[in-house]
Amino acid sequence: MNSSIGIFDSGLGGLTVLKVLAQKFPHESFCYLGDIARLPYGNKSPETIRKYGLQILKFLKAQNVKVLIIACNSASTVFLEEREFEGIPLLNVIVPGSRAALVAAGMDKRIAVLGTSATIRSHAYATTLKALDSAVEVTETACPLFVPLVEEGVVEDPITELVALRYLQKIKQQKIKTVILGCTHYPVLRSDLRKVLGQDVQLVESGEVLSAELGQLFGNGGIEASSDGHGRQIRVCITDLTDHFERLATQLMDPEPIGRLEKVVL
Ligand code: DGL
Repeated sequence: MNSSIGIFDSGLGGLTVLKVLAQKFPHESFCYLGDIARLPYGNKSPETIRKYGLQILKFLKAQNVKVLIIACNSASTVFLEEREFEGIPLLNVIVPGSRAALVAAGMDKRIAVLGTSATIRSHAYATTLKALDSAVEVTETACPLFVPLVEEGVVEDPITELVALRYLQKIKQQKIKTVILGCTHYPVLRSDLRKVLGQDVQLVESGEVLSAELGQLFGNGGIEASSDGHGRQIRVCITDLTDHFERLATQLMDPEPIGRLEKVVL
C-alpha cells in the first residue's frame, strides 16, 4: 500500500512531529497541512477548533491517506475519544503523551503539563493521566506566548527565557522533573525550557510519542509502505503562503527536504 500519512497542525508546530516521523519511517510518504491562515488555535473555542479540524481531516482524506494524525494538542482535545475518521485510523497526541509521561515519571508521579489556553482549559491531559493512574499529581500551565514566539522565530533568546521563567516558576519551585510539552510548537523551545528547568528535566514531546504509536499501528495493521523509500514524497500544504513560513519551515525540517510549499483551499 503506497498511500501517505496525513498530518496536521495550526501552523509550524506539527513540523516538529513530521520531522521525527519522516526520519523514523523513511519509506513512508506524508501529506502535512498547516492551517496558518487561521493560526493560532490555542485561543479559540472548542467548537471553532473542531470545525477547522473536520475541514482539514476531510481535505487530508481526499489526498489518499491511510492514517490521519492530529499533530496539534489543541485540536486533539476536541477529537479525544475518536479513533477513526470516516474509516481511516485517527491518532491524537494526548493519550500516547500521557502514557509516555507516566513511564518517564516512574515512582515520582508528579507531572507538569504545558499547553495552549485551549489545551489547558480542556484538562484533557489531567483527565487522561488520572484515568491511567489515580495517584498521579498534575500541574497544568497555559503558556499562550510560546506559540507566537516560535512562529516569529524568537528562539534561544533572552525574551523567550524571561517568558519561560514567568510561566515555569511553580514547576521550578516544586522541582517537578517530568514535563509534557502539550503543544507541538514547544519542542522548538527545548533549550530555552531546559535552561530554566534544568538539564535533568524529562520533556515529553508529541513527535516521539506519536512515532511509537504509529509503529504500533503498523505492527497491528499491515499498512506500512512496501516501497524502498525512493518514491517517498513529503508534501507540505498550507492555507496561506508567506516567505516567513517557508524560511522557518525549511529551518525546522532540516535536513529533511520539504520541496515546494503548496497553498491549498480547504
Ligand atoms: N501547535 C498547536 C498545539 O499543539 C497549536 C498552537 C496554536 O495554534 O495555538 O496545540
